[in-house]
Amino acid sequence: MPDIAFVNGRFLPLADAVVSIDDRGFQFGDGVYEVVRTYRGRPFELQSHLTRLDRSAQALGLKQPYPHTQWTQLIHDGISRAGFSEAKVYLQITRGVAPRDHAYSEDLVPTTVMTIRELHPVSPSVKSSGVEVMTTDDIRWGRCDIKSINLLANVLARQRGKQAGVFESLLVREGLVTEGAVSNVMLIHDQKIVTAPEGPRILSGVTRAVVLRLARRDGITIEERYPTKQELFDAQEVFLTGTTVEVLGVVRIDGRQIGNGEPGPITKRLAGAFAEQTG
Ligand code: PDD
Repeated sequence: MPDIAFVNGRFLPLADAVVSIDDRGFQFGDGVYEVVRTYRGRPFELQSHLTRLDRSAQALGLKQPYPHTQWTQLIHDGISRAGFSEAKVYLQITRGVAPRDHAYSEDLVPTTVMTIRELHPVSPSVKSSGVEVMTTDDIRWGRCDIKSINLLANVLARQRGKQAGVFESLLVREGLVTEGAVSNVMLIHDQKIVTAPEGPRILSGVTRAVVLRLARRDGITIEERYPTKQELFDAQEVFLTGTTVEVLGVVRIDGRQIGNGEPGPITKRLAGAFAEQTG
């Protein structure tokens, strides 16, 4: 099966998909995106992802090319054309094509791209053993709630993690933990969840919202505040949430063991509850 692309209204093999070098996504990172995954062929929390895409687009004054109903149809069409048992659906809207100039004309036609690729989930053995992560400075801009394609700070943080041989890089701003380079982060202290509040310092994760809902249902108290880096090291449990990582235990941070070095009981309970949601 080929990876599938969709460019400005047309499906084609990903290898044949092109956009102009004058596209403002390429020139300026002037665009927004979403990543949705499927479970047994069905996109998970699609409406939440589309709503966040609306919010991101609106924040940049970008026109949404399609209403939710049409996006939903296109996404289902793409998934069935690709035929993967599990797929990662990537949506991107940029401001469009124009001669390079930072300021833009209001009448540009957005470039809309979707790709459907095979999804390789985190392996069961990694899930059960948990992962090692590192901390690094959060040098991102002041609107991390916008899912912008301008990901340079995340790219650099992620690469530092790769070079260090760890699974994820956790971002720290003035001693406070915001989130991961591609995930949200939560810790358990005194049986409570501590996680950064929604706002301009983090991406309001779709998985984060699902997990917090499951935690509340389970009677777990949630403190939405930024944990300090020290609290992270002292936590009983730490875990990541995200479309690609789901709920994933963290067992080592900057070389220091967390809890007893295995994903903890609350992490496992929430991972189990999340797995029930995804079927
Ligand atoms: N990343 N925080 C950041 C900075 C992210 O990039 C992501 C997702 C998340 C988790 O959000 P969600 O639960 O909605 O996936 C948090 C996607 C997967 C990516 O950029 O590939």
